Amino acid sequence: MNVVDLILAKRDGHRLTDEQIRWFIATYAAGDVIADEQAAAMAMAIFFQGMEPDELAVWTEAMIDSGSRLDLSGSGRPTVDKHSTGGVGDKITLILAPLVISCGVAVPQLSGRGLGHTGGTLDKLEAIPGWTPAITNEQMHTVLRDIGGFIAGATADLAPADRKLYALRDVTGTVESIPLIASSIMSKKIAEGADNLVLDVKTGSGAFMRERDQAVVLARTMVDLGNANGVHTRALVTNMDTVLGVTAGNAVEVRESLDVLAGGGPADTIELTLALAREMLDLADIDVDPEPKLHDGSAMEVFEAMVASQGGDLSQPLPVADQRHLVTADRAGFITRLDARGVGVAAWRLGAGRARKEDPVSAIAGVVCLKKEGDAVAEGEPVLELNLDDPARLDPALEALDGAIVVGDQPTDPTPLVLDRIG
Ligand code: URA
Repeated sequence: MNVVDLILAKRDGHRLTDEQIRWFIATYAAGDVIADEQAAAMAMAIFFQGMEPDELAVWTEAMIDSGSRLDLSGSGRPTVDKHSTGGVGDKITLILAPLVISCGVAVPQLSGRGLGHTGGTLDKLEAIPGWTPAITNEQMHTVLRDIGGFIAGATADLAPADRKLYALRDVTGTVESIPLIASSIMSKKIAEGADNLVLDVKTGSGAFMRERDQAVVLARTMVDLGNANGVHTRALVTNMDTVLGVTAGNAVEVRESLDVLAGGGPADTIELTLALAREMLDLADIDVDPEPKLHDGSAMEVFEAMVASQGGDLSQPLPVADQRHLVTADRAGFITRLDARGVGVAAWRLGAGRARKEDPVSAIAGVVCLKKEGDAVAEGEPVLELNLDDPARLDPALEALDGAIVVGDQPTDPTPLVLDRIG
């Protein structure tokens, strides 16, 4: 097999054979025979030419087979996983996992770190003193059986071909390709071994699929890949034009999650959590209403047990910022736009996110929304509170907010949070 022939075939719009795909993925994952520039050329050819559905299915299977699949049998409950394509203020996993566990399912959740303006679940949980994402396979089985779930870092042998290819795509302008995104996400999720999967595919300014029709195609592609591989999969396409909830950052998002688990919190965070919880429970055939579990302490109890099992100490205070800056309304009226991307980039520049995989993140840095879209404001009234620990980061963050807050004379109709349901 010659890699150049494969690149030429894809460049010229031909379907790769199953054998060619399996050889390409296995050989690239294994080492030096396929150079990074050749794999990058293949990614770019796929970016422009796309893939046939059956071609993509084989590509995804080959990525799964580059590592091992987790065996999660033995939890004694149906397993359900959840994945979000990433957004600003998206702390839903922190609330959703313990919530659905308290309803009777098992949640084996392997999460990633944030890159760019969208946050990562592991970075958020690491704001809790002592919490670690690193757990052994044996611990995973123990907590799955005793508590019902975990949120941990992905193990090195989970779709290793994807890790290599994704790092390459990140620096070669080939991330935003529907087949490459779908196979990247689904190879990891299928390898995790859950019976059921609910996807939250974000669309809007704060999502990497900005256009709704593209998000729907991505959702449909991932649902088909999951179902074809024996994972009962459903997707919600959800609005990411404005910040989800009232916080974007690490410690601030944990605090908001604890508020929701204690029966309070912002309406949109609660609404999306419950919508996703209902889909997860429905796929698992569990007929329980999740809403009361946020009010009677059951979901909080599971969260506390999950955090403690990974060394986290919720009796210790979460880190708080000693430097705060208020962003105020320049006129009186109603907030008609609070742009997700502007707020996400501001939180990232304040230190909540990273530009490169190796960068550290600040637990303290982030943005608190004191007003949301639809709220009335007086001239000079604070809209956002920026939390930071490094004063040099303030000006770049303020630049990102240029034009992100729009105040109008009349409140606009709120856009629904859940836009489409697929599968
Ligand atoms: N997240 C992934 O895991 N892969 C992609 O390609 C994009 C987002």
